[in-house]
Amino acid sequence: MTYDERLQNVSVLGAAGKMGSGILLLTAIEMVDRSLQPENKGKTFVLNAIDVSDEALAGLMDYLKVQVRKIAEKKTVWLRKMYADREDLIENFDIIDEYIFAVIRMVRPVTSMEEAFRSSLVFEAVNENRALKVKLLSRIKENSQKDVWFFTNTSSVPIHLIDEEAKLEGKVIGFHFYNPPAVQKLVELIKTDNTKPEVEEFARQYAANLKKVVVSSNDVAGFIGNGHFMRDGLHGMKAAAKLAEEKGLPLYEAIYMMNKITQDYLVRPMGIFQLMDYVGVDVMQFILNVMNPFVEDEDLHSDLLDQMMEQGVKGGQFSSGAQKDGFLKYEAGKPVAVWDVQGKNYVPFEAFSARCDEMLGSMPGSVVAWKATLRMKNKEEMLRRFYTDLKTTETLGSELALKYGKCSKKIGEKLVADGVAHNAEDVNTVMLTGFYHAYGPINAYFD
Ligand SMILES: NC(=O)c1ccc[n+]([C@@H]2O[C@H](COP(=O)([O-])OP(=O)(O)OC[C@H]3O[C@@H](n4cnc5c(N)ncnc54)[C@H](O)[C@@H]3O)[C@@H](O)[C@H]2O)c1
Repeated sequence: MTYDERLQNVSVLGAAGKMGSGILLLTAIEMVDRSLQPENKGKTFVLNAIDVSDEALAGLMDYLKVQVRKIAEKKTVWLRKMYADREDLIENFDIIDEYIFAVIRMVRPVTSMEEAFRSSLVFEAVNENRALKVKLLSRIKENSQKDVWFFTNTSSVPIHLIDEEAKLEGKVIGFHFYNPPAVQKLVELIKTDNTKPEVEEFARQYAANLKKVVVSSNDVAGFIGNGHFMRDGLHGMKAAAKLAEEKGLPLYEAIYMMNKITQDYLVRPMGIFQLMDYVGVDVMQFILNVMNPFVEDEDLHSDLLDQMMEQGVKGGQFSSGAQKDGFLKYEAGKPVAVWDVQGKNYVPFEAFSARCDEMLGSMPGSVVAWKATLRMKNKEEMLRRFYTDLKTTETLGSELALKYGKCSKKIGEKLVADGVAHNAEDVNTVMLTGFYHAYGPINAYFD
């Protein structure tokens, strides 16, 4: 079966979800583009968007139309070439409408799993629930009329377990998109010892066509991205608890300080507590619970996360994309208060931030803002200067930042030592591309 033949009947499970909708969009574009190639004229391409609720699927189709229009508007020159034989399509808007129509004709929003029995390729993006994933995939495999291949988007379940439990005979690979899939460039590719080479080859071709940056991760729970981020988050919570204890501060003040350290001093797009809110306190706890049984020399668990969950403070996003309150409270997307687990309420920044900022001390004049680094040609030099200056600045802020940077580096190095990542460069690429860090964790700045 050729690349195009495999793409002629595809299903996305969990298509109305956060990840599924993006995967559906990208796959729809890839499929419709292939269908427009001269050699595929007249062939039928079918993309099943499978989810449990009709309502969610209706919303998905609206989303798809809007997004496909935006994509089509950016490639009218190419589309004009593809539709060169269509004399009825005169204006650009005729061509764009035809392209959207081609996508809508191809995508079948359905709630029945049976539709996937005719697919040669299945993307799995249902909830992070191993039993659910195994149940759905094994049912498709058992009933499939094709030599079906599976791409799972699991964040944490080892792929070989899904393979074994669903009896997929090596026809499965971890294809871990980042959120949102249509925007994020990174994909972690996870093959098992059993993954068929042709499945990997196809996955690489598909990723290349989508213009993704591919990093291969070994099949260890959490892979590289969550392997680093989850431990970094756990460290952030531990560092805040330690700071609170040593300085006799309420925990919420220490959380504010560590969030500031990890954003401003480590030159990251957001502080570690804001990032945990973005991902979701519940998602974080869930992924840690999946990962924990697979690690022997550490305990990937946090009492603070348990407490947050018990108190119903979960973060994550509204369907509009707006940030829900978690460790921090947000107004117009900006953090304005910290959750106090003792008092069970939010304490506004203005009640304590000036005192905390003073305790951290001032930053060296060579400090660089994260956003500015994105445009800097001499980023490395600027960062080196800043961290060199930080080492000679005797403030609490610099001490905490240097310790944190070292720990983040150690986490990265351990991923390589434990064989999760093939090398330091892969760890750095994941954190640079998937988490938008200004520099990879394995660096010389903190030596
Ligand atoms: N959200 C992220 O940042 C992120 C990033 C990378 C990977 N992932 C992984 O992607 C997967 C999906 O995560 P998400 O955040 O999109 O979750 P989500 O809750 O937004 O979406 C899951 C979707 O699956 C659907 N679903 C549930 N049971 C189903 C069934 N029996 N049949 C068909 N559809 C069903 C739900 O209705 C929902 O639409 C998970 O494995 C997650 O770990 C998530």
